[in-house]
Amino acid sequence: MTPNQDPQISPGRQRDLQLRIASSLGSLKILARQSLPGLGAPVAELLSQIDHLRDEYDGGMMRAFTDRAAALSHRYPVNITGLTARDAGARDVQEGERIYRRLCLGCHEAPAMTRDNPAQDLFTLAQTMPEREFIARMIGGVHGTPEVALGNPLSDAEIAGMVAYLSGLH
Ligand code: HEC
Repeated sequence: MTPNQDPQISPGRQRDLQLRIASSLGSLKILARQSLPGLGAPVAELLSQIDHLRDEYDGGMMRAFTDRAAALSHRYPVNITGLTARDAGARDVQEGERIYRRLCLGCHEAPAMTRDNPAQDLFTLAQTMPEREFIARMIGGVHGTPEVALGNPLSDAEIAGMVAYLSGLH
């Protein structure tokens, strides 16, 4: 595998990101099978797109891989209905802050940036990336480990409350 080598990113972090991408590709088909039937979308076609993605990644064809990944995420945008800051009521924002302080602050408040794969400051993340992308990360990355990313323990209202609290949009 010969992914693009960005000199800004340390070798350890690059290795870690490669593992995360490989692991996410491994669970994409399960996600596609679980989510698409309800939408009436063509599952077989998507599964073959995912095969292409995996082949391109394994073959180090990074340009083709990123183009296909971008096209797929455009065609199947993450559903953020009910999860945006605007969906959060005052109680949800309070609850979002409570959850953050109880469950997330310990790792995310003063991240050890010398680690290969640090837990980043969630306020900075929420305020510097598009809301849709932050929400996608809140859905998929809350545990910080790919193994359990399929079962996010937060309810929709809790995610919306945390998005509002962390982004300051409330
Ligand atoms: C035990 C430490 C720990 C706790 C507790 C923790 N995180 Fe994390 N989190 C991490 C680490 C380490 C990463 C970076 C590694 C990764 O993304 O896999 C991370 C990454 C993330 C990301 C980015 C994922 C991505 O796709 O880039 C989000 C969002 C996140 N955490 C949200 C939360 C929220 C919300 C909570 C509380 C409900 C929480 N985390 C609790 C350690 C933790």
